[in-house]
Amino acid sequence: MTQQANNRLAGQTCIVTGGSSGIGKEIALSMGRDGANVVVNYYSSEETAQEVVKEIEANNTVAKAFAYKADVSKEDEVEAMFTKAVDTFGTVDILVANAGIQKDAKLHEMSMEQWQRVLDVNLTGQFLCARAAVREFLRRGMRPDISRALGKIIHISSVHEIIPWAGHANYAATKGAVRMLMESIAQGYGRQKIRCNSIAPGAIRTPINKSAWETPEALEKLKELIPYDRIGETEDIGAAAVWLATDESDYVSGTTLFVDGGMTCYPGFATNG
Ligand code: BGC
Repeated sequence: MTQQANNRLAGQTCIVTGGSSGIGKEIALSMGRDGANVVVNYYSSEETAQEVVKEIEANNTVAKAFAYKADVSKEDEVEAMFTKAVDTFGTVDILVANAGIQKDAKLHEMSMEQWQRVLDVNLTGQFLCARAAVREFLRRGMRPDISRALGKIIHISSVHEIIPWAGHANYAATKGAVRMLMESIAQGYGRQKIRCNSIAPGAIRTPINKSAWETPEALEKLKELIPYDRIGETEDIGAAAVWLATDESDYVSGTTLFVDGGMTCYPGFATNG
């Protein structure tokens, strides 16, 4: 899907964590297409992060970007990333806390390492990035010519913030917690004009869930869970993230936007129950 640049976010700076692949990569590209400067955070894949940077700058001359390596679960690395963003672009207007991992195991076989690492990245990482963003928004103050909001935080959650997921209890637990983190931020900082929302993707075609779509049989089975009868594409999430970052969604705060083809509508009940 090729999209036109229309620069609704010109003059704004966006940090996308986990921006070198999957959903994060598409969000980084989408923000750039709409004119935002983008910090493409990555953890392991420098080469692909640099490619995203090049693509952002090639797609839209208004947008500048750089790649930045940081483990979002490490306080000093997150702080250093925000400092670099502010030094380079002047401030941060939009945070997309996207970085997330799965380390799947049945509960009775789950190691402490599998539990802890998923909590560290998916939950502590979202806290550390959101805290740094709120601090920067408050430091910088309003810029009415740029946005009606002081700043925008978008957490990338999952349908598993409400759908239980056996064999993935660590992951589901972090996503349930992200919902409360997001709502608490929205409640606490709304009066300062900070908007905080989540996107809850359903099954999106990315490396994280390759086994669920890589064969026609797996894809058919997956589609039984999706009333809209197709797997999601990363562009579906990119478009939602940009909308949540623009003033078009200025009255939206404290909400989870499910982008899941109806997965949370319990499709098993269509012919049962
Ligand atoms: C998970 C994917 C899964 C999807 C729907 C996402 O949050 O990361 O692996 O396919 O939820 O179950």
